[in-house]
Amino acid sequence: MHVDDGIIIAPSILASNFSRLADEVSAIDRAGADWIHLDVMDGHFVPNLTFGPPVIKALRHVTDRTFDAHLMVSNPDALLDSYAKAGAEIITVHAEACAHLDRTLSRIRELGCRAGVSLNPHSPADVLAHVLDRLDLILVMTVNPGFGGQSFIGAMAEKIATIRQMTAGRDIVIEVDGGITAETAPLVAAAGARALVAGSAVFKGDGEAAYRANIDAIRTAAAAAR
Ligand code: DX5
Ligand code: ZN
Repeated sequence: MHVDDGIIIAPSILASNFSRLADEVSAIDRAGADWIHLDVMDGHFVPNLTFGPPVIKALRHVTDRTFDAHLMVSNPDALLDSYAKAGAEIITVHAEACAHLDRTLSRIRELGCRAGVSLNPHSPADVLAHVLDRLDLILVMTVNPGFGGQSFIGAMAEKIATIRQMTAGRDIVIEVDGGITAETAPLVAAAGARALVAGSAVFKGDGEAAYRANIDAIRTAAAAAR
């Protein structure tokens, strides 16, 4: 993907200043973000509401970085085409929201996107055992989805390690999301995570220079633990 075998940092714009969204995305692009993580929430699968395809489409003009769309929605199938058309390159759905996960993942690839599945903290890794051929990415939630700024759930390190074993020899990226900081990054990287989503730990301080220092701190801590 964007960085051949290294750590991938994916700032979540959920923690950005929404009144200056284009500037914030441009700032994390210049500050060294590998992917832009887009948290789509529908007020149903999770209690919170964020944004959808029109906002993603508008941001597509601001950066060339990979758009990593995390759909925290109850019925992802209904809008998959819209997310692909809006410019999402990775589309991740929640296993808990998909009655026909195999079909949903196949559809994401048919649309020319990379297919991801996310697991809530309570969901076991086993649910992915029979869809590994359909997957490009597994997103392990390290908090309960819905809000930024929550505390990392330490028990997820074991699930990440299980998934690393399950995906050995396959071209599948393991991503983590929630409570990732320079302090928790080594725990997930050591367990096998390569792509790290971070919201509040990246958008601390104001603007490009602060964001660059934050991204670098997370990347350095994670890389040292691999
Ligand atoms: C949570 C979202 C996350 C969130 C992470 O539902 O999926 O991407 O923005 O925020 P932090 O890094 O602040 O925990
Ligand atoms: Zn997310």
